[in-house]
Amino acid sequence: SLVSMRQLLDHAAENGYGIPAFNVNNLEQVQAIMAAADALNAPVIMQASAGARKYAGEAFLRHLIDAAIEAYPHIPVVMHQDHGQSPAVCMAAIRSGFSSVMMDGSLEADGKSVASYEYNVDVSKEVVKFSHAIGVTVEAELGVLGSLETMKGDKEDGHGADGTMTREQLLTDVAQAADFVQRTQCDALAIAIGTSHGAYKFTRKPTGDILAIDRIKEIHARIPNTHLVMHGSSSVPQELLAIIREFGGDMKETYGVPVEEIQEGIRHGVRKINIDTDIRLAMTAATRKFLFENPSKFDPRDFLKPARAAAEQIVRARFQAFGCEGQA
Ligand code: G3H
Ligand code: 13P
Ligand code: ZN
Repeated sequence: SLVSMRQLLDHAAENGYGIPAFNVNNLEQVQAIMAAADALNAPVIMQASAGARKYAGEAFLRHLIDAAIEAYPHIPVVMHQDHGQSPAVCMAAIRSGFSSVMMDGSLEADGKSVASYEYNVDVSKEVVKFSHAIGVTVEAELGVLGSLETMKGDKEDGHGADGTMTREQLLTDVAQAADFVQRTQCDALAIAIGTSHGAYKFTRKPTGDILAIDRIKEIHARIPNTHLVMHGSSSVPQELLAIIREFGGDMKETYGVPVEEIQEGIRHGVRKINIDTDIRLAMTAATRKFLFENPSKFDPRDFLKPARAAAEQIVRARFQAFGCEGQA
């Protein structure tokens, strides 16, 4: 059934686990997530980006999630709007049936310029006001996602801020986080700790200087009742990169967020973990391998089947690692 995200995150907090929030764009991704959730009896957060809505269309996404709920009535499902760039976008998503929205006021409505703190408070507060009136959960974001290695916003894949940032911008400030949550009354807070979207997060296996798990601990100590959200949380498995390269892909050396670092975050208030890239890598690896090994095949179902199975496998692994098994 469709539930509010607040309900799921509260349960996760009471029971000390975290919930992966998977980006979806098509049928096979939705099916993979639901099959994994069903097998493990895990709660589901599926989220759609602006890019997903553009790719699939609002109606197709909504009906895909409705189909998931109909096919698996015993699994609680949240349909979340990822990175809303304005209150109007959040409002439109709610009208379209989403049970949760993200107001990303860390950037201005152009999605590129770093916003002022007061702008972020204002738009987040506004979204909380109309969302809470009808039981919709609100995630807000404080701090700018980007790399502490290059001091760049994560513009590379079309998301996030342009240009060079300061360390202060790239790490959510503890006192400001407390003030922000108190003033906006958001349900969940996305924080900046050195992660960025896409496959190219770190040039080496991250250590504390470029992935600031300690900052999570400090924020959680100050606002223990706020559910924290980690964006850019794909782990970018080396074995998937290897398959992609082996079967004709061209991907540079890169590292993601290690699962054990996310687990440390979950011990300190992280309740929602955003993952998109890992599913993309899994599906691409399986598709490349299948088509390479079966050059005469041309029915899309033939390569979408292993792609869907690969997505299901990584979703299962994240559900298990984050403690979701049996929590639905
Ligand atoms: O917000 C980031 C997600 O990875 C979505 O990416 O905008 O390419 O759909 P997208
Ligand atoms: P990844 O690119 O690391 O999967 O992050 C996805 C995300 O944060 C979506 O909001
Ligand atoms: Zn994100």
